[in-house]
Parts: sequence; structure tokens; C-alpha cells
Amino acid sequence: MSEAMPEAPTRSAVTGSPGLLASLDPLLREWLPRQRWFAGKGRPVTGFSLVAATELLPADGKLGLYHLLVRAHQPLEPVQGTVPHPGDCYQLLIGVREALPPRLAPALIGHVHEGPLAGRTVYEALYDPRPAEVILEALRTSARIGQLRFERREEIRPDLVPRVVTAEQSNSSVVYGDTFILKLLRRVLPGTNPDLELPLALAREGCSRVPPPTAWITAEPPSGAEEPYVLGVLQPFVQGASDGWELALRELAKGEDFSAEARALGRATAEVHTALARALPTVTLGHHQLQSMVAGMTERLEAAAQAVPTLRPYAPGLHSAFEALADLAREGHTWTAQRVHGDLHLGQCLRSPSGQWWLIDFEGEPAKPLAERRMAQPVVRDVAGMLRSFDYAAHSAGGPPAPEWAAACRAAYCSGYAEVGGRDPRTEPVLLRAYETDKAVYEVLYEARHRPDWLPVPLSAVRRLATGDS
Ligand SMILES: Nc1ncnc2c1ncn2[C@@H]1O[C@H](COP(=O)(O)OP(=O)(O)O)[C@@H](O)[C@H]1O
Ligand SMILES: [Mg+2]
Repeated sequence: MSEAMPEAPTRSAVTGSPGLLASLDPLLREWLPRQRWFAGKGRPVTGFSLVAATELLPADGKLGLYHLLVRAHQPLEPVQGTVPHPGDCYQLLIGVREALPPRLAPALIGHVHEGPLAGRTVYEALYDPRPAEVILEALRTSARIGQLRFERREEIRPDLVPRVVTAEQSNSSVVYGDTFILKLLRRVLPGTNPDLELPLALAREGCSRVPPPTAWITAEPPSGAEEPYVLGVLQPFVQGASDGWELALRELAKGEDFSAEARALGRATAEVHTALARALPTVTLGHHQLQSMVAGMTERLEAAAQAVPTLRPYAPGLHSAFEALADLAREGHTWTAQRVHGDLHLGQCLRSPSGQWWLIDFEGEPAKPLAERRMAQPVVRDVAGMLRSFDYAAHSAGGPPAPEWAAACRAAYCSGYAEVGGRDPRTEPVLLRAYETDKAVYEVLYEARHRPDWLPVPLSAVRRLATGDS
């Protein structure tokens, strides 16, 4: 590397460092809301508070590095303005230099005019190899730095070259030497995070469909009252992998059938579910739980129908999907619930060049509270997510919609699932229809708000689900 770096990073905690925010506040107000992973879009940021600040490389050196947990204050409603709201907490890695070399221009956060960093340039440090190396080194040596805890299950080689993954999703990732990938969570919460909890449980079960966590980062909470924050997970990098969404679209564009892959995905899903049921508690959902599940689905349907007029004609048919489930509950029907993936779709599946499928990203739906994401649910919920994903793919390859292609995938996925899981999800038509309906209703609302051109995709499912045809 060209920069002369200190051999060993100076490691100190600067929690509460009062001047730091004075330097960063004006820049973060501009920069943070523009980030893809920023969850509070559309509401102004009115200020910040530090949850934790850790100096990983001294800021008075040529390259300084701060690890920050920053709470962004945002009024609850833009019109009310004064409603107090604690705001979301974000994980930031801030690099500090005199000036940025051109290769780091896309990582610029801004030039500091105030506070202790005045005159310096701050930037998104993950784009810079040296800061990414500092993080890996801390994981490799199980370091404790300030409030940060780096823990590992396996040995990590010291010489892996980092590269940031630029296709930003809801989090940020760095690949180390094609050997590991570090996912740094952006919006962080105190408490057990399923993105670490479930892969660890699956690794204990010897499940080979999920990359086992190699190491992870947590932060001690500022007050004793909260649990630690899970900040990131290092796991083996599946080399040369394609994600299921890209692969499905590619095959569809070529006019190729995808049902053999869909079947393999069904088998992989069932393997993961079986291992999760062994590893973590299962519960029986009786009348009371099913009733409140149906009430939640009904509420979401009503809210969506309120917001999206094109959904209204189908609302009675969609309600019948939920009523059928409520009827079964009243008759005394129960379902087993267990820990599930929680946000399963083709984009959460990777296929290695050898043809093996992996499931990734057990974070659940990031907008929901951790306690809700960690609740036991019927496995059919994940199945419904994947079935919706085949439908989306069938509308997304550029050509005319391909409903037969989707139907073949859906059937093959369920058959594959049955081969390993012992039970075909299609033998639960009422539950499956209720979950698919709930998902399609969510999609209608999402598309109406964010991508109106896509509204026909969930609406075509809504038409089918409203009549109860499978
Ligand atoms: N173990 C892995 N091996 C290879 N690529 C991975 C791995 N884990 C994640 N990725 C890549 O990173 C992307 C985002 O990962 P994911 O865990 O889904 O994060 P996000 O929460 O941002 O969606 C994936 O779509 C995939 O391309
Ligand atoms: Mg993902």
C-alpha cells in the first residue's frame, strides 16, 4: 500500500467525545439521508447523538479511523415537527485524511469546518483497504476496543486483501481475498440479531446450506440496561456464486425452464427448516395465536385497500383467504411454529458454480422489531415468500409475463421441499393462501408507493388469490 501507516493501530475509546459530533453533524445531515441503507427517508434529520465512538486509528495520523454508533434524531411526523423520537442508530466507519486520493472520491462525506477535525476530510472508510484491514485484524485477534467486541469461532488468515462490495443493499459488505465476506449492519439495534443467531444455530446443527459465521462484532451498550448491539458477521465467501434472482432472470430471458433449480431450492429450504426445528424451540399455534395472526393480516389488508384504490375490488376475495384460516382455527386446527428465515426470496439464495444452493441473510424484515423477527412461525411463511418471488421473476425478465414458467417453478419448489421436509406445503392450502395473500397485499402497497409501474405484478397475484385458485 502506498500510504505509510502505523504498524499497530492505536486503540482507544472516545465515547462521549464531545467535539466529534460538532465536526461531523453538518456533514452527516447531508450525507446520511442519501445512503441507500438509511431507513428514515422522507423525514428530516434534526440532530445526532453518539451511542458509542471508538478511535481505531488516531485522527492526528495520516489516516484516522473512527467507529461510530450514531443515533439520528428525526421527528416522527414531518408536519408535527416537535414530537420527540429516539431515532434509529446507525453504524458508521469514518475515515479522516488531509485530502482524499481520487480513487476514494466516491467515498467522500465532506470537508470539516468545525470542531476537532476542522480542516480534514472525512469519508466512508470501508472503501479504503487500510480501514477494512484494521477491522479484519481486530476479528483475527479477538480484540476488545472500547465498547467494541470482536469474536471468532475459527482461525482467520492475516493476509487477505479487502474489497468493498459496491452493489449496496440494506447493509454494507467487504470481501476479504475471496475467502470471507463481512456484512456490516447499518441500522443497528440492541439484542440478539437473527442474522447471527440463526446461522450460528445452523452451524451447530451441521447444516451445510448456510455459510457458518466465522467471526462477529458486537458493541457493549452505553448503559447497563440494554443488551449488546450486533454490528457485523464475517462468514465464508461463496466464490463465483450467482444469486437466485439473477440466475432465474437469466434462464427466463433465454426461455429456459428453471424448475430443476427451483426443486433444489425447495430441498435446501427444507434442510434449513429441519435443522432450525432441531436447534431452536418449536411451539404450537392454537386458536388464540391464529386469531391474532388473522387480525394482523386483516388490518394490513384494510390499510392497503384504503391507500390503493385498485386493490379495493379484490378486498372481499382476499378477506375470504383470511376468514378460511380463522375458520380452521375455530374448528380446533393447530399449526407447529418454529424459527424460520423470515424474508425468503430468490435474492437471498446463492448458487455456487458446483450447483449447490446456499441461503443467506437471516436478518428478517429489517423494518420490524427484533422480538417480532425472532418469533416462531409456520414454515409455510418462508415457502409463501419464495413462491411470490418466482411470480416476480416471471414478470421481470424483460419479455411478456411468463405465468407457466412461474407455475412450474412453484410446483417444483414445493415438490423439492416435500422430498426433504417430509411434507408438501401444498397440503396446507389455506395457510399458504393466507400467507401469500398477506405478502401480495404488502407488495401492492410497496409498489403503489415506490414503483407504480410494477403494480401489475402483485395485482395479478391478487386476482388469483382473491378467487382462491392455486
Ligand atoms: N457468503 C456469501 N458469499 C458470497 N456472496 C455473498 C455472501 N453473503 C452475501 N453475499 C453477497 O452480498 C449480497 C448481500 O448480502 P445480504 O446478506 O443479503 O445483505 P443485505 O442485508 O444487504 O441484503 C448478496 O446478495 C450476495 O451477492
Ligand atoms: Mg439480502
